[in-house]
Amino acid sequence: MEVIIAPVDQQARLAADAIEKLLRREADSTLGLATGSSPLAVYGELIHRHEQRGLSFARAQGFMLDEYVGLPADHPQRYRNVIAEELVDRVHWNAERVHGPDGLAADIPAACAEYEQAIAEAGGVDLQLLGIGTDGHIGFNEPGSSLSSRTRIKSLAPQTRSDNARFFDGDVDQVPVHCVTQGLGTISEARHLVLLASGRHKAEAVHQLVEGPISALWPATVMQLHPHATVLVDEAAASRLQLADYYRQTYAAKPAWQGL
Ligand code: F6R
Repeated sequence: MEVIIAPVDQQARLAADAIEKLLRREADSTLGLATGSSPLAVYGELIHRHEQRGLSFARAQGFMLDEYVGLPADHPQRYRNVIAEELVDRVHWNAERVHGPDGLAADIPAACAEYEQAIAEAGGVDLQLLGIGTDGHIGFNEPGSSLSSRTRIKSLAPQTRSDNARFFDGDVDQVPVHCVTQGLGTISEARHLVLLASGRHKAEAVHQLVEGPISALWPATVMQLHPHATVLVDEAAASRLQLADYYRQTYAAKPAWQGL
């Protein structure tokens, strides 16, 4: 696992560099998309590169990590609508090529199985962007999730509902109780995992992710088993890392030409 301690704007450039390299090498690559605050700077950087340098998403496919269950199709916080507004529409990416778990399906288990099938038929995810919850979730795999879980319905932890109330006028009761999320096993099959975290409130989760024992209690620790995982954190999110100086030295000594 590579840990890079850098301000958010540099994190965004590094992650966007990796995505740009992928798309320029293989235009039909498959990207894994996260929502929430963490990837916003990366999306801003990708929009900039689309507008200024002609970075094209036209032949790529996207798969979202998760979706709330039960939010009406036109709800502004439905993740499909959020990602359209924050990235897809702004890089002129055909929405039909960007897929998400169906939080409105009549038969959710069947829709989850179809989603897994769609990812497999696309050849798997080349690069998966991730944020991390304060309780250590990735996707919406809350503490206690099986480390080999697949796409399924989950109950959001009270901590996550309270963290996400900021997107629902500060009213926790408006935050759905259930979600559909790619499982930890599903996420782990992506060829490159790129996790972004900033802020002191993420410091304990980041410490556990990088340095804690692998445990369902901190679901993101499953990333320790991944052969190509990159963790981009700002100083505040890195503030509980025991080996922070070592990560800094390692990154400082990395050849400039080598990407993530
Ligand atoms: C969202 C997702 C979640 C978030 C996490 C952090 O699609 O999968 O795991 O990445 O809850 O959220 P933010 O970035 O808003 O702090």
